[in-house]
Amino acid sequence: MKQFFSHQSSAIILGIETSCDETAAAVVRNSTEVLSSVIRSSANIHALYGGVVPEIASRCHVEAIGAVVREAVEKSGVDWPALDAVAVTHGPGLASSLVVGLSAAKGLAVSLGKPLVGVNHLEGHLFSVFLGKPREVFEAAFPMMGLVVSGGHTCWVEMTEPHTYKVVGQTLDDAAGEAFDKAAKLLGLGYPGGPLMEKAANAAPPGWEKILFPQGRIQPGNRLLGGLDPALCASFSGLKTSLMYRLKEHRHSCLCSVENHRQECLCSVNALAAAYQEAIVGVLVERCAIALKNKKWRGLAIGGGVSLNSRLRVALRDTCHNAGVELLLAEPKYCGDNAAMIAGLAGVGGGVDTGMDLDVDPGLKINMK
Ligand code: KG4
Ligand code: ZN
Repeated sequence: MKQFFSHQSSAIILGIETSCDETAAAVVRNSTEVLSSVIRSSANIHALYGGVVPEIASRCHVEAIGAVVREAVEKSGVDWPALDAVAVTHGPGLASSLVVGLSAAKGLAVSLGKPLVGVNHLEGHLFSVFLGKPREVFEAAFPMMGLVVSGGHTCWVEMTEPHTYKVVGQTLDDAAGEAFDKAAKLLGLGYPGGPLMEKAANAAPPGWEKILFPQGRIQPGNRLLGGLDPALCASFSGLKTSLMYRLKEHRHSCLCSVENHRQECLCSVNALAAAYQEAIVGVLVERCAIALKNKKWRGLAIGGGVSLNSRLRVALRDTCHNAGVELLLAEPKYCGDNAAMIAGLAGVGGGVDTGMDLDVDPGLKINMK
């Protein structure tokens, strides 16, 4: 398949992202200079149902996409004809959400007479660490290790050179964000769970460290490994089940009063959230340390909504320091889903240019064009 390469280093690209419940558009110049980034989330509506409802997400995208794109272009100060290309997430994600962004991008590309570039959402997350930095930082960063930690994906990626990526490890069931979201639901904290779990964990009573959750290790020979190294893979489903059992057990055995329960008891929501968060962070950090053992990596790039987690950011800083590699984190505003990472990646040639044949691919894998 033809790959899109921006020959003009100062190319101005409009990016569109609608893979899940955020409708986003951004204008990026020279790959990393973000002229505008607009994000409209429908999370508050999904919160009523405890998780993303695809049908509602796609309807919200349809309602928002026109205004979001217009706002992004207006805020960028760039005139429509000055845009050099339209980049859009074509996968992975929810099919009914992706088609809204793709249809809008196709319409814009045709009406503006500009190329249409399809970008992989996960590769976009890995590129997000370069947004707002000089483009040379991207060019000098390879070879590096990447970690995507989002609501739908958790994977370790060898990035030997730009666009030559290989997934070397992943969670075999729930992604890290999903594990946070499911726990928050069990604990009655709400949706999206990650930030609420972090807030609860920060208010945990002393001694929460005594609560231990499983570390999600994978035995060699697990049929879900598909050739991946078990030391770089993990499972989070046992963690969630363990929390469920603890909550059930607690109802029968804990002697604390209901009033005290939420604040002080070691079975409280806050204590459980802290221990659960620590288990997820522990799993991620342990696999990163193993992945970084090979000294050829210059850095570790981490992208995706879970990379907003402060405990994870601090823990990974130590891991990278010990491994002697640089930790590349995205600015908080580019950790979650955004369109600047899509436009930026297109600017460095990280997309496909198949014209109007471009279709959505809900199961798109890393390095699959
Ligand atoms: O990358 P993202 O915005 O969307 C996907 O591509 O999935 O990630 C969303 C995920 C959600 O599961 C959310 O709970 C999680 O990121 N998340 C967090 C935090 N903020 C967002 N997880 C842990 N701690 C946070 N502070
Ligand atoms: Zn994402």
